[in-house]
Amino acid sequence: MAKNIFLEYYTKQQFYGKSKLKKTIKQNSRILECVKVTAPIVDALKEAADNPTYQFHIPGHTKGNAIFKDFKKLVGEKVLNIDTTDEFDNLGTLHPATGPIKEAQELAAQAFGAQKTFFLLNGSTAGNLAIGMALTKKGKKVIINRNCHRSALTGLMISGAEPIWICPNRIEDWSIWGNIEASKIEEALKNNPDVGMVWITNPTYEGVVSDIKSISAVCKKYNVPLVVDEAHGCLWNFNKHLPETALKLGADVVIHSLHKTGGSMSQSSMLHIAKNSMINPDDVEKALKLLHTTSPSLLLLASLDAARATLQSRAGQALTDKMIKNAKYLRSRLDNIPNLHQLKSDFGYKTDVTKVFIKIDGLSGKRLESILEIDFKIEVESASDIGVLILCNLGNKHSDFVYLANALEKIAAHHYTDIYYLENRKHMPMLEPQIKMSLRDAYYADKEVIKKEDAIGRISAEVIAECPPGISILLPGELITEEHLPYLNDYETIEVVK
Ligand SMILES: Cc1ncc(COP(=O)(O)O)c(C=O)c1O
Repeated sequence: MAKNIFLEYYTKQQFYGKSKLKKTIKQNSRILECVKVTAPIVDALKEAADNPTYQFHIPGHTKGNAIFKDFKKLVGEKVLNIDTTDEFDNLGTLHPATGPIKEAQELAAQAFGAQKTFFLLNGSTAGNLAIGMALTKKGKKVIINRNCHRSALTGLMISGAEPIWICPNRIEDWSIWGNIEASKIEEALKNNPDVGMVWITNPTYEGVVSDIKSISAVCKKYNVPLVVDEAHGCLWNFNKHLPETALKLGADVVIHSLHKTGGSMSQSSMLHIAKNSMINPDDVEKALKLLHTTSPSLLLLASLDAARATLQSRAGQALTDKMIKNAKYLRSRLDNIPNLHQLKSDFGYKTDVTKVFIKIDGLSGKRLESILEIDFKIEVESASDIGVLILCNLGNKHSDFVYLANALEKIAAHHYTDIYYLENRKHMPMLEPQIKMSLRDAYYADKEVIKKEDAIGRISAEVIAECPPGISILLPGELITEEHLPYLNDYETIEVVK
């Protein structure tokens, strides 16, 4: 396969195409740097598209020939032309990693500072499932934060491992879970000498950052591996104004949702095995092989390759710099709106500047979200009863932030009514679970569906964790109490253990 190297020519204001290189080097004395960025899967796909074959293999739409016309029009012929899986056209394979896919994973490992990187389809969910399956087993104890994503729980249900819950600090004013104290991890490790793994989420969905360096030091002291679900922090290695990635702070495994903030396509993520990790990468790979589809989408894999190439390039550096600048601009505008508040670093925790969690006096987050959407055509990442979460993305323009700040100024000055706020409704409980049965035993137990009102005193048999953010309200094996009811407004019935 021909190896196509992308060259990027960077000047103060401009990026030049390949064909202009020689001319540009001679003519333009302002050229600052010339960086080589390779993207092997992207190259291989291009090669395949440029050299079409008679196709007698999957996918059956055969380069879009047999697909709904309107859909083809919508996504474009080119996309369908390269909608293929591994095995064909020298594209390499995912399991085992071969060819351009292997090369791309190696380049990603270098870029993120890992020993080994696995590309994930089905998002970071696949990574968490693989961690549960590969690194825990029935009856083994795992220290894990209560506000973990539901995919981590599913990992534990698959293996039958027992969670030792760590409740992070509560940030009551914002009705969210905050940072995880290293001292809590140490206490749990002291009380449970048979713990096999510490598995924590950092940052939180709202951008609260824990002290991973101290947590990692504690794990090393007790010789227990540390897995960090850094799904929302995949840009951290690429800009010094962002928090430090757990890969640099002593974690053994780190998971990144590249599709969330890193610029790849939906569903594509990465799992990194750290340098000097206590974990054997082969164990993780075996689980991934079983969990992954056997028809991986080359489009998704190429988008991971492309996202990594962008982040590593000068253009990517410029994008992350611009993103930080925009986030700071937005935050400074919001500081000047008297009845608007934004979550900021505080005693004991830091925040990621790009995740802006805000609230306005007199409005619930849900109401604010709908005003933004209906009156201003602005869609935010999510809304809670308290506030809304705004993500400052790589791809946002400065004018987007000007528009958003102007809209928020108008909303804050206008007196909207809000029944939700007046009723003080909440949707994210921060309750300590009362565990009556193991997660797995309860999930696989004989069950019955009963009315919510009759469920008090019974043991839950289902996962109730609405997305976003996918954090649990109730889990299999937990006692249902009256305190849960306000958070179950959308449920008429609940599945309980018989
Ligand atoms: C902390 C955390 N981990 C894992 C996931 C799952 O990620 P994905 O959507 O990439 O499967 C999410 C999703 O929101 C998450 O918030």
